[in-house]
Amino acid sequence: MCGIVGYTGKRPAAPILIDGLGRLEYRGYDSSGIAVSDGKKVNVIKAKGRLFELEKRISGASPEGFCGIGHTRWATHGKPSDENSHPHYSRDKSFAVVHNGIIENYLDLREFLTERGFTFRSETDTEIVAMLLEYYYNGNMLETIIKMRNKIKGSYALGILHENENGVFYAMRKDSPLVIGLGENENFIASDIPAVLPYTRRFIIPDEQEVAVISPDGVTVYNRNREQVNKQITVSDLSADAAEKDGFAHFMLKEIYEQPGAIKKTVHDRITPDGIKLDRIKLDGKKIRKIFIAACGSAYHAGAVGKYFIEKYARIETEIDLASEFRYRDPIVGDDCLTVIISQSGETADSLAALREAKRLKSRVLAIVNVVDSIIAREADDVLYTRAGPEIAVATTKGYTTQLAALYLLGLKLARDRETIPQSEYDGITSAVEKLPELLSAFIDEVNPAAQYLAGKYYPANDAYFIGRGADWSAALEGALKLKEISYIHAEAYAAGELKHGTISLIEKNSLVIGIAADPALREKTLSNIKEVRSRGAAVIGVTDSPDAIKAECDELMVLPATHPALTPVFTAAALQLFAYYVAAARGGDIDKPRNLAKSVTVE
Ligand code: AGP
Repeated sequence: MCGIVGYTGKRPAAPILIDGLGRLEYRGYDSSGIAVSDGKKVNVIKAKGRLFELEKRISGASPEGFCGIGHTRWATHGKPSDENSHPHYSRDKSFAVVHNGIIENYLDLREFLTERGFTFRSETDTEIVAMLLEYYYNGNMLETIIKMRNKIKGSYALGILHENENGVFYAMRKDSPLVIGLGENENFIASDIPAVLPYTRRFIIPDEQEVAVISPDGVTVYNRNREQVNKQITVSDLSADAAEKDGFAHFMLKEIYEQPGAIKKTVHDRITPDGIKLDRIKLDGKKIRKIFIAACGSAYHAGAVGKYFIEKYARIETEIDLASEFRYRDPIVGDDCLTVIISQSGETADSLAALREAKRLKSRVLAIVNVVDSIIAREADDVLYTRAGPEIAVATTKGYTTQLAALYLLGLKLARDRETIPQSEYDGITSAVEKLPELLSAFIDEVNPAAQYLAGKYYPANDAYFIGRGADWSAALEGALKLKEISYIHAEAYAAGELKHGTISLIEKNSLVIGIAADPALREKTLSNIKEVRSRGAAVIGVTDSPDAIKAECDELMVLPATHPALTPVFTAAALQLFAYYVAAARGGDIDKPRNLAKSVTVE
């Protein structure tokens, strides 16, 4: 995905655009650029590389003007380069466009335009939009944009500038996020609220394919039938420092430490004396034959933990899918099913497509999402917000553990509906969930030195194997992803019982194995697998709440606190997040913005 920003008002646009892009860089950071209109023409400046490359190019030659758009890129079509960076000009440079999303029919449109004499400067799909605007331009911008809109297919959040539009710019979205910020004699667009939070707390969110006309005096929105529509203004309660590091070296470390508070917000008003209240969601576990969970990356790993919990306590068959697989496998889903889409950003293209497939198959869809009013939240039948607050680091931490907390609440609610959980078990788990924030806060402080020590010992590893059984295997999936995505060490997770069916051939002297043995029912079995790898020379870090049970077979230990067994994945996650963080720090990685990644993937 990419980040877009726009401004028009009483102040020079360039500094505001750069400031906004600095808060959007986590969305994509292989190149960036701005376009500023000086009332006569549109000036574009852009640069390959991180935002500071653009700032260097601008320094001393900042484009004049009070109206502009900006973009920070995660390359999809065309490698990171100056030419492929946004904003993109039209042929005659009268238009400039920034775009987050994918124009799926861009090759057809490129041919259409080539046949009409257009030539192209870049390999991108976005440039097509700028050229189409020029092709259709008749002096009426609304008409021009609508003609372009009717020609393109795919997903987009667009910012559009034209040289004749003094102080006015345009925006439109479909399947990609876009917010419009309302200031005093100045107005903004951005891919997310934190990007312009220092300037305004008042926002409107355009609906799909509505055209927004943004001027310093106000914002006018037209629906698909060109009727002017009034939009509800929302006031954000996010703190302005939400997108700041607050003294931490990286957003990731800050967000690891924010987990207790985030989980508290997720659960605090949803466990009540009358049972679990999932906000206004009206779900009855007795009427659900089967549950499908579809998600990507860490959200999928959370779903894997959720599957074990829901099946154990609510006794509802629960199937988990990678969202990118769910949407193409013709799943046997019906109106007696509940499909749970888990997504921190609420923008992930594959997860959105899985949601739409589930709805097409008549399933009720519940979204577990962090970003309020994101596309997935808006299209689901019900949404359970995780309330983790803005998560800036690409590697999710609080986004993941608050998803676990939300899934525990869902499982408890369904179990109560179906009377499949004994009251004592229900009381034990709800009590443990309520104690999670405090216990986790103490644990993070306690395990931090061990994580640093182990990272100092093992950061040179080239490979790492995370093994576990049951929910510990799901926790292993997340631990492996955390390590590889920020340290670039090749790390894989294996069901501990599966290793001996082939992969154990890779284990040799000093192979790093993280053995997760937290589930008491499976610990002995996992211990035998730890012995198997240890006898072949592996260096084993044991992760457990029962150190005496496994320490003889481990080189090192990360000891989890005593809690309800179902909740140990939260603590395993925190321990392995810190381990990954300090390994990456020792290896000098760009921890908050790892190579090749972006915060959420809005392309397939
Ligand atoms: C996790 O650290 C990664 N950033 C990635 O796997 C992420 O979880 C995945 O892309 C899903 O994102 P979402 O939760 O925003 O849908």
